[in-house]
Amino acid sequence: APVMTKSAELIVPEGVYAETVLSVTHYTDRLFRFRMTRPAGFRFRSGEFAMIGLVVDGKPIYRAYSIASPSWDEELEFFSIKVPDGPLTQHLQRIRPGDKVLMRKKPTGTLVLDALTPGKRLYMFSTGTGIAPFASLIRDPETYEKFEEVILTHTCRQVAELKYGFDLMDEIRNHEFLAEIVGDKLKHYATVTREDYPFQGRITDLIESGKLFTDLGVPPLDPAVDRGMICGSADMLKDTKALLEKAGLTEGANSKPAEFVIERAFVG
Ligand code: A2P
Repeated sequence: APVMTKSAELIVPEGVYAETVLSVTHYTDRLFRFRMTRPAGFRFRSGEFAMIGLVVDGKPIYRAYSIASPSWDEELEFFSIKVPDGPLTQHLQRIRPGDKVLMRKKPTGTLVLDALTPGKRLYMFSTGTGIAPFASLIRDPETYEKFEEVILTHTCRQVAELKYGFDLMDEIRNHEFLAEIVGDKLKHYATVTREDYPFQGRITDLIESGKLFTDLGVPPLDPAVDRGMICGSADMLKDTKALLEKAGLTEGANSKPAEFVIERAFVG
């Protein structure tokens, strides 16, 4: 059955935008990125997520997607897994430029700068597509106004899955105004767990052993200066959170900023 109806046939539900796909980049058989138009009047904070959907067999299906583009960008970017029998992603992975994607109007989320108390060093811990909200935040100048140093960790099973992160770093380095704002404040620490690679291991093991800090040349976690954001699978969130708490950091929220935040809405 055809997945994408032509826009003329697409019935757009109340409170939902129908945006046009501008580009699609496939990284592996499990990962892809797409960019689409941004509705006039759609505002969000870098790091937030939105409900993204498609009409499948006449019915809209939505999933929570972190917006990977920064809040100043005139387009919207998303980084997605492809699940062969995933209710949404089995269809979403086949979108092409010109197709329409639905987006509910209200973004939300806890991985925002406002949910953290002031600090010096911001850690962004991600696994898999959990890098998406950080793709937004590392391209937002406000991140570098608030922090002297930003460390993005990204752990995947395989080397090919790290490519999106390396592309982001290249984009920033070559960007006309971001390059100067970011300077050498941003460090990208990428590791894999199921393939040969110079940097190996789960982020939790690298925190526990201290290898993360020696590799980066920074002191161990310190609640006085370090702040954290975590995005990954449910198990990764739980285990990373436990290590930050062991180091003395407390979890914050939009209503009560503190030393680290977690995105629970994120799946896979
Ligand atoms: P591993 O290969 O050792 O399971 P997934 O695709 O399952 O979400 O995994 C993405 C990455 O996150 C993998 O490198 C995986 O390592 C790692 N990972 C999975 N569970 C945890 C956890 N509880 N804590 C830290 N890293 C994890």
